[in-house]
Amino acid sequence: MRILAIETSCDETAIALLKASGGLRNPKFKILKNLIASQIKIHAPFGGVVPNLAKREHLKNLPVLFKKLKTKNQKLKTINLICVTVGPGLEPALWTGINFAQEIYSDIRLTTSNLQPKLIGVSHLDGHLYSFLLGPKSYKLKAKSLFPSIALIISGGHTILLLMENLTHYKKLGETRDDAVGECFDKVARLLGLPYPGGPEIEKIAEKGNSKAINFPRPMMNQKNYDFSFSGLKTAVLYYLRDNPLETSARGGSASGGKSYKLKADIAASFQKAAFDVLINKAVRAAKEFKAKSIMVSGGVAANKTLKKELSRAIKEGFPKSKPELFITKFPTDNALMVAAASYINFLRKKNYKLEAQGNLGL
Ligand code: KG4
Ligand code: ZN
Repeated sequence: MRILAIETSCDETAIALLKASGGLRNPKFKILKNLIASQIKIHAPFGGVVPNLAKREHLKNLPVLFKKLKTKNQKLKTINLICVTVGPGLEPALWTGINFAQEIYSDIRLTTSNLQPKLIGVSHLDGHLYSFLLGPKSYKLKAKSLFPSIALIISGGHTILLLMENLTHYKKLGETRDDAVGECFDKVARLLGLPYPGGPEIEKIAEKGNSKAINFPRPMMNQKNYDFSFSGLKTAVLYYLRDNPLETSARGGSASGGKSYKLKADIAASFQKAAFDVLINKAVRAAKEFKAKSIMVSGGVAANKTLKKELSRAIKEGFPKSKPELFITKFPTDNALMVAAASYINFLRKKNYKLEAQGNLGL
């Protein structure tokens, strides 16, 4: 099956072409094309994503990316499935993708005689969840040895912990009650005068800091449930900065010297450690409780290398006998490949979404 996917839920315009086979028992994918037009530079001056600007950029970028896909000699006539993210996300942005997908669908139908493609809506969260299926090769699905699995989706909009009984049956164990963890990284970065998106910036400067320098709170870490809360952690950083202000030069600048730079790096490292301690603690606890054979981590925050290091260490220490296998997605930040992979699974299990923007679509 050849799948064309479109993703415009936030600030990345993305189109991908994926070849899928193997069915639900042994899904396999070959990446044919993965195109992304990032809008980061456009939203950065505003410190976050501006919905109408995102819409305008998607409208501009979609035809450009699609043209690129066609010029790469991809046989669009042989596409079996067209899929598009319908939510969750910014509704004006989502609509641009849905309308574009409908246009392509009509065009391909008109030019194809025997093979009629299908058009389906996909949840962005299913995209993140199934992104681990996209490889590398050693990540091939060995259903029996991977499930039950604990899945952690950590992005700018979501922080969700799930129990996956198998590839198609999962239930939510908990989620954030306020800010998503990526959102918290973005807000703390802003407090530190770092540009948007804040996650990669915090990760970078944290490498120069001491993660034990400041003991920020670990909200809800020791509560028995699997919910999260990150807004208190952000406020703790705000209060810390009020009592220990950075010199003006260190706020905006990134020169790696001086007392204030050291303080900024210590705050970033200590904040990052506090946020990750909570995520790791709950994921490991859930893995123990449900005797998970694997832990799968996806979403933009999964790009963080310190998280990978600390989670691997926690697994090593927490499971002296048989350890769950750790899968950190190779495609953490928004892209259309993950949407294509999810559409294959959803198509096979007949899970379909209405072709309309659903800003608050849940899992
Ligand atoms: O999945 P994603 O691209 O978009 C949403 O679905 O939200 O995630 C974006 C989020 C942003 O909040 C960004 O700051 C965060 O992921 N992020 C990171 C890193 N790279 C991106 N957070 C921490 N460390 C990173 N290296
Ligand atoms: Zn996302």
